[in-house]
Amino acid sequence: MQIPEKGIPKEKLFQMLEAFRSKDLDWRSGHVFGYVYDPGPEVREVGHRAYSMFLTENGLDFTVFPSLLRLENELVAMAAQHLGGDDDVVGNFTSGGTESIILAVKAARDYFRAHRPNIREPEMILPATAHAAFHKAAHYLQIKVAQVGVDPKTFRADAALVGKAITPNTILLVGSAPSYAHGVVDPIRELGQLAMKHNLLLHVDACVGGFMLPYYRRLGVTLPDFDFTVPGVTSISMDLHKYAYTPKGASLVLYRDKKLRKFQIFASSRWTGYTLINNAVQSSKSGGPMAAAWAVLNFIGDDGYLEFARRKLEATRRIVEGIQAIEDLRVMTRPDMCLLAFTSDTVNVFHIIDEMNSHGWYVQPALTFENSKENIHLSINVSNVEWVDAFLTDLEASVEKAKTLKSSELAAAIREGSFSIDLSELGTENFMEILQMVGIQVTELPKRMAGVNEALSALPPEIREGLLIEFVNELFRYRRNDIS
Ligand SMILES: Cc1ncc(COP(=O)(O)O)c(C=O)c1O
Repeated sequence: MQIPEKGIPKEKLFQMLEAFRSKDLDWRSGHVFGYVYDPGPEVREVGHRAYSMFLTENGLDFTVFPSLLRLENELVAMAAQHLGGDDDVVGNFTSGGTESIILAVKAARDYFRAHRPNIREPEMILPATAHAAFHKAAHYLQIKVAQVGVDPKTFRADAALVGKAITPNTILLVGSAPSYAHGVVDPIRELGQLAMKHNLLLHVDACVGGFMLPYYRRLGVTLPDFDFTVPGVTSISMDLHKYAYTPKGASLVLYRDKKLRKFQIFASSRWTGYTLINNAVQSSKSGGPMAAAWAVLNFIGDDGYLEFARRKLEATRRIVEGIQAIEDLRVMTRPDMCLLAFTSDTVNVFHIIDEMNSHGWYVQPALTFENSKENIHLSINVSNVEWVDAFLTDLEASVEKAKTLKSSELAAAIREGSFSIDLSELGTENFMEILQMVGIQVTELPKRMAGVNEALSALPPEIREGLLIEFVNELFRYRRNDIS
């Protein structure tokens, strides 16, 4: 593809962009339970305005853009207070939960390198419910993961199992507040005790819900303690671009004090250009997300967030009750916030998801992992509140329809062992074959995904990962006939 010889006129360009996104998820519909955290048109407008106002400012250098330094410090100070921190708490603004987590893990690794250099192969202990971003951090930073199971009923981390997994190489414990999949807060107090007893660091991943949990507590919800008031908690990640409703590209990573945060910062003076000093992974970065986050936080304000929490709490209760009232469904555990997982022991959940899609809803599939069976995930939002009754009506109809649909024969063969895969022989070609068998064509995904999801769910995680990497490696390639 070539850069057009002559520039395309403005109107035409925007028409093209509109056309490109016409097949995207319609997040404005209120029928979407994930991906987009929409606070409604008024707040959206505030975010957009601040975003464009600072779009061109560059966070590469806070000495030339002191406004960004001020915005960052104010955001961190508000977050620290919100999470029970004192004046010693420090932190930084990042592009998202994953970057916050990577930085917290890097700080932990380098802190231990400095203080306990005898640890050559550092390990972190992850409950099965800890977000995949920790596995990514471990992969990037060469940290060994010790994964431990979670309570089969509550899906909370099991502190006793975490304790058993501690070795002389352990550097970091991790808890979620709440976990993405089941929406429950881990026993952070117990993890804090373990961390202190063994001189370890403890990171609390409050990316998805840390911002909302204090409001839930103020509304009378009983929740485990999870923030800096808990002894032993040394760092917390908390996204703003989720339930603080700020535009994307906004998260915070906070540390109990500067002694640990120091190990997150990177400086390099070993080249011929400007001296580089970065407190996050990105270097040049737009000031837009930060300014938008600052503006939205200040615009919604404490009372606004409390009201958002109240509405979501009410909607979640109605959804949980509604799901429980459908005979074939069960909520996997009572969620602490507005994220939940539900499943069925009698109906194929992946067919239910396809049926819900055909009614115009987006609900997310989650594959079987450890003691968490395949399920349907909901991240409930203010935009969903007025649609709860319609959602439950369509859900009931979808369950009935799903009962009449057949399950995947391939998935059954995988589960029964009659279709087994030799991991040691897997190369790109075999993966492509399996992809096709499973029903994934790189050029066009099937409209109904139940068969694909069911087969993936039946496969071991390492094969799922291999398949998805091959798929994405093929998908992200320009194809001439993609143009329509
Ligand atoms: C608990 C938790 N941690 C981390 C992340 C990663 O955040 P991001 O997608 O902003 O990188 C998520 C995303 O959903 C999350 O729910």
